[in-house]
Amino acid sequence: MKIEEREEEDEMPRIIFATGNAGKMKEIREILSDLPYEVVSMKEAGVTADIVEDGTTFEENAMIKAKTIAELTGEIAMADDSGLEVDYLDKAPGIYSARFLGEDTSYDIKNKYLIDQLDGVEGSDRSARFVCAIACVWPDGKSKVCRATIEGELAKAPAGENGFGYDPIFYVPQYGKTTAELSMEEKNEISHRAKALREMKKEF
Ligand code: IMP
Repeated sequence: MKIEEREEEDEMPRIIFATGNAGKMKEIREILSDLPYEVVSMKEAGVTADIVEDGTTFEENAMIKAKTIAELTGEIAMADDSGLEVDYLDKAPGIYSARFLGEDTSYDIKNKYLIDQLDGVEGSDRSARFVCAIACVWPDGKSKVCRATIEGELAKAPAGENGFGYDPIFYVPQYGKTTAELSMEEKNEISHRAKALREMKKEF
């Protein structure tokens, strides 16, 4: 359906979320489910864009994505830029988390590589965090970025089947589990993405 056709109909307004990551989209939909907006992915909105994420921070990259989609659609556009920071590795993979060891490399390989890098590293030296920046751009030009983190440690071995990406190796001490061992509901209570989205929801 074209955007012009939508405007003539009395439909729930939409938020177009600029991600192609199905794992993220599942979490985002759940967290935003109480807003009176239909939350659709770029794919569902029929929007294709080759966005170059050439920012140097999570915030810049999230804003680049949200602005591009807002300009293309004229609708409310939200984007997330997130990643894993491992302190012992100077905060790598950081903003390169998705591209780390190659975009198409499986997370089994990426996760094993990170665990191997921290072989022999103990205790608080294994500290790590997930970071998330959520950017939103409204049709009137208003924009906002919210950033949040969840602190944890790099696990000594992958565990759990839930979530996506680096979840099997991100250990949350207060739960005694990796984020891949948490249910989506549990992860959405404490995650970087949930915290940043809850902050953004205050704008609606
Ligand atoms: P982005 O799509 O450029 O923001 O890349 C984010 C990447 O960071 C993802 O593809 C994952 O590799 C990683 N990441 C971010 N958030 C999470 C999470 O909640 N769990 C696991 N991995 C995550």
